[in-house]
Amino acid sequence: MSDSTLREYTFRCMKAEKEAEKLATRLQTLVEVEKLASRLKTHATGNVELGEDEDFSDKEFTNLVNENKKLKYRIGILKKSIESQGGDPSSPAKDDNFSNHMCNILGQLEGIFKKAVLSAYPDVIDPVIQIQVSKHADYQCNAAMALAKSLKKNPREVGQMVVKNVAPSSLISKLDLSGPGFINIFLCQDFIKQQVTNVVLNGVTPPPTTPKRVIVDFSSPNIAKEMHVGHLRSTIIGDSICRLLEFLGHDVLRLNHLGDWGTQFGMLIAHLQDSFPDFAKKSPPIADLQAFYKQSKQRFDEDEAFKKRAYEAVVKLQAHDPVHIKGWDDICNISKKEFEMVYERLGIRIIHRGESYYQSRMETLVKQLDDAGFLEQDDGRKVMFAEGADIPLTVVKSDGGFTYDTSDMACIKNRIEEEKGDWLIYVTDAGQSQHFKSFLACAKKAGIYDLSKTRVDHVVFGVVLGEDKKKFKTRSGDTVRLVELLDEGLQRSEEKLKEKDRHKVLSEEEFTKARNAVAYGCIKYADLCHDRSRDYIFSFDRMLDFRGNTAAYLLYALTRIRSIARTAGVNRESIVAEARKKPIDLDHEKEWKLSRTILRLPDVLVRITEDLYLHPLCEYLYEVSTVFTEFYDNCYCIEKDDTGKIVKINIGRLMLCEAAAQVMEKCFAILGIETVEKM
Ligand code: ARG
Repeated sequence: MSDSTLREYTFRCMKAEKEAEKLATRLQTLVEVEKLASRLKTHATGNVELGEDEDFSDKEFTNLVNENKKLKYRIGILKKSIESQGGDPSSPAKDDNFSNHMCNILGQLEGIFKKAVLSAYPDVIDPVIQIQVSKHADYQCNAAMALAKSLKKNPREVGQMVVKNVAPSSLISKLDLSGPGFINIFLCQDFIKQQVTNVVLNGVTPPPTTPKRVIVDFSSPNIAKEMHVGHLRSTIIGDSICRLLEFLGHDVLRLNHLGDWGTQFGMLIAHLQDSFPDFAKKSPPIADLQAFYKQSKQRFDEDEAFKKRAYEAVVKLQAHDPVHIKGWDDICNISKKEFEMVYERLGIRIIHRGESYYQSRMETLVKQLDDAGFLEQDDGRKVMFAEGADIPLTVVKSDGGFTYDTSDMACIKNRIEEEKGDWLIYVTDAGQSQHFKSFLACAKKAGIYDLSKTRVDHVVFGVVLGEDKKKFKTRSGDTVRLVELLDEGLQRSEEKLKEKDRHKVLSEEEFTKARNAVAYGCIKYADLCHDRSRDYIFSFDRMLDFRGNTAAYLLYALTRIRSIARTAGVNRESIVAEARKKPIDLDHEKEWKLSRTILRLPDVLVRITEDLYLHPLCEYLYEVSTVFTEFYDNCYCIEKDDTGKIVKINIGRLMLCEAAAQVMEKCFAILGIETVEKM
């Protein structure tokens, strides 16, 4: 089990436990009332002698207390299972498969089977229910094996017992046992038809979720330094996580934790004073901020007098001297404008809230930590140790300044206490794992962060490598500028589309749209379709390939699906009107296969929320496209005669095309990839 799954699990357990406690209290009261009532009744009828009655009642009471304990425990388990299905724990478990929400089939099945196991074997503690997609049926439940082992029973017998205890559901048509005790699950055909029809009518809708306040810290470049490919990864992954959680109905706050405070501003301001003496009145026209940064760094390293001035400037900045604040603000604004240009091109929404935001909060926090005795003196610095923190945090530097550690401590306190975040997500390169581990351990020790109340995920990613498998650099060895990288993407995508003569078929506007969608889509998809924790090789050639699992191929596949109905002259309205009349008909085996694939989207999405790895969504998207091809090769949607005249339109199959396109579009939307009608 991964750390984040464990955390989510613990979090769910605590929540469910609380619910259970409440219910148990109610149960206890009910039991007591019932006991009193029965005693009153016995006394009133006078049928039983008082002494005996008291005796019996005591025994009964003990039994009831025991029973109550068991019930309390089982409520906990049931609550947990409801939650893990994405249901609302405060509302009764529902089998509302025919509602407008797309059903999280896997979650529903897990709930159904957990209940069945608990009713077959009431003493089993928290059974593990493993359900997966199956070749022999729709899904398969493997719970019986593990259960049989712990119960020391025959797995087939256990399987039979579980099957017998599965409550009737609109989801399941048939269950059978195979092998040593696998339970094959066949879904109800009406249920599938209804669900696919719902996708046609209502589009892809999220499965029911318990909304949380989620704060996602992503992108987060540093002012005056270049935004590099590492930040690009954080931006792409973070944005996609936000899109997923927003779609599922969570309240998401997207934050850009800019590196906008710190000692580097001393040298920048000192250099500003020399280069643009009237900067206090007129905003400096710095064209190349990175070059400006390099120059000031060089002076800082070589010139002692300059270094001294730089230190003085930091002190003045931290004392909020208006002129120094003006210089700082100007520099930040130049950087932010550059970042925003990248965000705009990539369609990223984000709120700037840099380290400077926490300045006063850091001061308060440091005092609190010091007063509480958490800080230790170390060579002039103030550090904090905690169990689990391999390296102590430097909370105050020897010159009295704060560090990245200090800002993250103040920041997490703010996000939990002021922003009321239930779930905090940080997206950074894996190189920062140590830092995250340490400040989270210290935050825990300081009582700021409680694992059982707040879920925290450090979403890490690997390094971007060039095609030579070395660190991604330009030919001359410089870091690749993001803007230039995006420009190259556009140019390459244009060449690729021209190679395929698309400029001759598409209007100018359509061509530009397609070029942008392919360029940015490919860059994003190439990043998201890999296991993010690994390093990845950046290759335009590979990502722009029109074959295989690439955005170029998938975007094209979608336009082809979209063109089927268009060619037949059938618009979405008539497809919807047809779907409204009666649910889709599914006869051909490939129609079933496509339908079942389409309906797996909620399962995939819910799973992703457990560990925030997005590549399974890309794999799923690719699978939809290949299963669609299988369907399309086997099932005529439109029949033409020898002259090419359309003689028959199979509207039911066009409904299926529509549903497949909807699902693909939703996947693209979550991945942050723009789709096009034509390309
Ligand atoms: N600015 C940092 C960097 O460039 C990333 C900040 C990540 N967020 C955080 N709360 N530490 O590496």
